[in-house]
Amino acid sequence: MSLFQKLDYGPAPESDQPAQQWLESHHRNFGFYLNGIWEMPQDAELFSLENPATGEQLATCRQAGSREIAQALSGAREAQPKWEKLTGHQRAKYLYSLAREMQQHSRVLSVLETLDNGKSFRESRDIDIPLAVRHFYHHAGWAQLVEEEYSQHVATGVVGQIIPWNFPLLMLAWKVAPALACGNTVLLKPAEQTPLTALWFAECCHRIGLPAGVFQLLTGDGRTGEELVCSKGLDKIAFTGSTSVGKRIRELTADSDCKLTLELGGKSPFIVFEDADLDAAVEGVVDAIWLNQGEVCCAGSRLLLQESIAEKMVGKLQQRMQQLRVGNPLDKAIDIGSLVSKTQLERVKRLTTEGAKAGATLWQPQISLPETGCFFAPTLAIDVEPSSVLAQEEIFGPVAATMTFRTPSEALELANNTMYGLAASVWSENINQALHLAPSLQAGVVWVNCTNQFDAACGFGGYRESGYGREGGREGLLEYMKPKMTAFTGKKLKRPDVQSQSHTTTLEGSEIHRTAKFFIAGKQARPDGGTVRPVWNKDGSLAGTVGQGNRKDLRNAVEAAQKASTWSKSSGHLRAQILFYFAENLSLRRQELETRLQQLLGCKSNEAQQEVDSSIQRCFHYAAWADKYEGTLHQPPQGLLVPVLNEPLGVIGLICPDENPLLSFLSILLPSLAAGNRSIVIPSPSYPLIANDLIQVMETSDIPAGAVNLISGNPAEMIETLAAHEDLDGIWVFGTEEEVRQAKRLSTSNLKRVWGNEGQFVDWYSPAAQGREWLRQASQSKNIWIPFGE
Ligand code: NAI
Repeated sequence: MSLFQKLDYGPAPESDQPAQQWLESHHRNFGFYLNGIWEMPQDAELFSLENPATGEQLATCRQAGSREIAQALSGAREAQPKWEKLTGHQRAKYLYSLAREMQQHSRVLSVLETLDNGKSFRESRDIDIPLAVRHFYHHAGWAQLVEEEYSQHVATGVVGQIIPWNFPLLMLAWKVAPALACGNTVLLKPAEQTPLTALWFAECCHRIGLPAGVFQLLTGDGRTGEELVCSKGLDKIAFTGSTSVGKRIRELTADSDCKLTLELGGKSPFIVFEDADLDAAVEGVVDAIWLNQGEVCCAGSRLLLQESIAEKMVGKLQQRMQQLRVGNPLDKAIDIGSLVSKTQLERVKRLTTEGAKAGATLWQPQISLPETGCFFAPTLAIDVEPSSVLAQEEIFGPVAATMTFRTPSEALELANNTMYGLAASVWSENINQALHLAPSLQAGVVWVNCTNQFDAACGFGGYRESGYGREGGREGLLEYMKPKMTAFTGKKLKRPDVQSQSHTTTLEGSEIHRTAKFFIAGKQARPDGGTVRPVWNKDGSLAGTVGQGNRKDLRNAVEAAQKASTWSKSSGHLRAQILFYFAENLSLRRQELETRLQQLLGCKSNEAQQEVDSSIQRCFHYAAWADKYEGTLHQPPQGLLVPVLNEPLGVIGLICPDENPLLSFLSILLPSLAAGNRSIVIPSPSYPLIANDLIQVMETSDIPAGAVNLISGNPAEMIETLAAHEDLDGIWVFGTEEEVRQAKRLSTSNLKRVWGNEGQFVDWYSPAAQGREWLRQASQSKNIWIPFGE
């Protein structure tokens, strides 16, 4: 009776019996699923799983070590070609069976997820499991179509996947479904806190008769993860988790050719303009930061409120927060469950205390929390300074930090003021304003008047230190394939030692020395250090001298490139016109360039002619692409439209090889330019003059100042400075194996994207030395979710 009077929720717990029975059927004791059987090594280290909401012991698991990893690798390697050779239809049937099984057992899976992770049953039932199922259906479809739609691609091979604890089955689905659809075999390591649904999934693979070795499951903590990363023999690693571990994985894999995608942390802005529907925005905040207890990489954890509505919005939020229910996650009327572990609870407490000490006001509603378990009340941090730990660090808990802004440009500045770039949410009834902001937000996903929307057909992934690579949609599929045809020959590239010829310039006799200058900010510039080096023609005569760049020259060039942002914002049409014009001007210099090539390389005239001809063609190729490398439009089942923009990375360092010095220089520079990047190019160390000859062509072709900067110098030294430079977004190294590795090792600090020849000779005349894959490497996609209709 009192319930009716108070209109309060009564308890509505979901039964955990079927899930407990499933655990019992395994005697609450799990091993590894390897090569189609359960391995239960007696000598393996054990760890126990605990329900974070109650402290109840759920099961015991094993920690995989080098022996199990080796076993998993060899089985997956053996299984891979057979799996890839199956027809797409055969693979599709397996993925379809997995989707059906998961759907039929969705209740058990939802409860298992809640027991293991502490998240509310309502969310596991309505969000995690349906999205995971949808992922398998969607990719069953891709398995069917992949041969037809991607006939020029093959599977990457054997893939290691490491996933976190916040959406255990969903993260498994994001990684495993596309990998299997494309013909890869998988070694999966779930998070040590939450392996139960992955164990259930392994059993399911067995039940549907998935061939042995196609899906291998290794449980364990970060030690297993690190050993897996370091094991030789993986073709790709896909990781989701903290930025610090992502950086470590980048470092650990620097010495291999293993492909890497990283989906890391975030500190996503949730921007509310004064013309927003504030009630809708309040519900948006609930979904943005209190979904999954805030343990969401793309959680809208920074509320940026326009000053005129900030107070009203905070008031409305406080009222709404009072209604939030925190408690037993199995209760269907609960909004916020338990954090995943005591460690995570301590982390959230520590960071909020630090934020409060630094001046933020913490506000929590007067709601009761369970006495045991890892519960933390929803929290609003008010008046947070942009530099506060609450505004900069990923808290991964139910804590939102509010800040205010006056103008759209101030909102943008605040929004982009973190090292992360995963997602952003914009609230305004003025769609023009929202869509005007979207391209300037440094984030892989932008939600307009909505938040935390996900779908198998849409790409998800970050900019900047939120990682690289995409999951979902066509974008995600490409991460699990490689082009059939490659211009990389497999032959190791070596560089001659031209640096020993460096000296400080002196004018000898009456000869007038002509020193090729650098090209920085649209102007020819002398080397800062005054060091120059002679460049010799093939017949031993002096071709000229060339400056040797140092750190200061590179810093100036990066600064110039940073300032030339108009190039990145220019239309594809404008870029196309400029590249066509560049080709036209290049062809006017045909004779001069041919002579230069003959003198420098000692090649025959027809060879020089071929290189110049191909170079002009390559300009046309990328001029043609510049307004055609467009995004796409996804139509997820939620009924929103999701246009995808292909955006440039920003500023890229480009390191060129000696071979075909004109053609290789242009083949590297042009895709970057066509995609809208600004660059700092280090030309061939043996024949830098050929690149200097292009300066005048650039000057006369309307390429804006700073969009291309040219500095010659020792590649290893240039890479050292460029890879470590915080304002560079990417680096392409076409050089020796050691140079590529050096770039990968040094690029971790801001997680710049590294790409290149993996130390191999490139056949610059190959059709694969140009095209879509090059443009893909020069860009990153942004998915913008837009609601429409009533
Ligand atoms: P974590 O990054 O350590 O764990 C994620 C996964 O990586 C787990 O499977 C773990 O076993 C594995 N791992 C840990 N160390 C590894 C290593 N050296 N090599 C290979 N694999 C390794 O994240 P953790 O410690 O559980 O959470 C700490 C913080 O990380 C959270 O508070 C949150 O800020 C962030 N995080 C972000 C996630 C995201 O989705 N972006 C997910 C989980 C955590």
